[in-house]
Amino acid sequence: MSTSEPADLLVIFGITGDLARKMTFRALYRLERRKLLDCPILGVASDDIGTAELVSQAREAITATGEDLDDAVFARLAERLSYLSGDVTDDALYHRLAQKMGQARRPLFYLEMPPSLFGPIVEHLGAAGLVDRARVAVEKPFGHDLASARELNARLHRVLAEEQILRVDHFLGKEPVIELEYLRFANLALAEIWDRRSVSAVQITMAEDFGVEDRGSFYDAVGALRDVVQNHLLQVLALVAMEPPTSADGDELRDKKVEVFRAIPPIDVAHYVRGQYDGYADVPGVADGSQTETFTALRLEIDNWRWAGVPVFLRAGKALPERVTEVRLVLRRTPRLAFLPHPTRVAPNQIVLRIDPDPGLQVQLSALAGDTLRPVPLQSLFSEQLGEPLRPYERLLHNALTGDRALFARQDAVEETWRIVQPLLDAPPPVHRYPRGSWGPPAAGDLLHGHLGWQPPWL
Ligand code: BG6
Repeated sequence: MSTSEPADLLVIFGITGDLARKMTFRALYRLERRKLLDCPILGVASDDIGTAELVSQAREAITATGEDLDDAVFARLAERLSYLSGDVTDDALYHRLAQKMGQARRPLFYLEMPPSLFGPIVEHLGAAGLVDRARVAVEKPFGHDLASARELNARLHRVLAEEQILRVDHFLGKEPVIELEYLRFANLALAEIWDRRSVSAVQITMAEDFGVEDRGSFYDAVGALRDVVQNHLLQVLALVAMEPPTSADGDELRDKKVEVFRAIPPIDVAHYVRGQYDGYADVPGVADGSQTETFTALRLEIDNWRWAGVPVFLRAGKALPERVTEVRLVLRRTPRLAFLPHPTRVAPNQIVLRIDPDPGLQVQLSALAGDTLRPVPLQSLFSEQLGEPLRPYERLLHNALTGDRALFARQDAVEETWRIVQPLLDAPPPVHRYPRGSWGPPAAGDLLHGHLGWQPPWL
């Protein structure tokens, strides 16, 4: 089977759910506008509705995202849509699905469903003989620890080859995250300083200025470490730290990333801080006395020739003062500047890649202002220089439909990332409370002892 043939049908399980409403319909609409869709779309869910109702839900969802709806484009999208109602754990659904699929031979099944249903759905698809030339995309979370991720992989692999499985991590579809590979290796000015000789520490921040809102019952069982660190932030770190891929083959990029993961020892729980914002316990769906973290900060090491001795600090949290995600390389200090009237040590240069919002690159230099040195930022906003990028789900859906697997997480990487965080799941330290709108508990700062502290993000 060739897994890089374009799909001839997109089947979305969970088409009436939250993800479809917030992300999928919009992504499909934008792909339609770019003329990048060319197959029918079949939505599956348990709601007792028909295709007409699905089309009207799609229109409403797209409009609600703020997209300027072009009727002609939407009409083309609506033309593709059809709906099948049923219970995904019931054999009968798959017989009807087989009929609906007609002549389609290379479907993409996209499971926008709770992870507990990934196994059952894939097994039903297999039993109905629908997966021979199919690809199956699954949303996160992929497992809740190393053992469950392995179990789920083994279960899916009884029906599907690894090449058929696309594990979605929407951070991998973000333009500035993809840019990392190009910025790093297309620019000698960056490539030459991107290692332990020049870099003293790496800081990655993912801050959100909102709380858990209406996702209490989902979030309370998950927490910040599983929600965004094991997947999104470690995937970003792999792109920050990897060696250059040697070919355009998507598996080559994934090989390079997994090499980074293999070089990261399991994180020491002494280098892990958990926080919970005040008021979290009152969120509907959150258990009484919940010890789930809404903030996490940690230190890890990459034990290889490029990075040995350079600590990596990650922090992620809800109800922080800003919404900003960035990667920051803190460079080593220059020798003391003896030619200044007051010889002094200069602030270290910093290289910042902002991922959200408004992606861009900033290099912090020092320059003379009056009789003292001051930090001077050099910066570039990608939207001004590079135009409007594809949105993450637009790109990932397109890649899934065309069979380009490079931007999906591979089994070995998923298992490695769980291995790296497993000690923190096994023995979580107590949570510290922090006020909403603060940068998390002060203990997060102690992790950086002996290094430049957490830097205020580039806003
Ligand atoms: C999701 C998490 O995967 O990513 C959310 O479940 C988080 O908790 C979201 O808010 C952040 O994504 P983005 O693209 O808005 O940064």
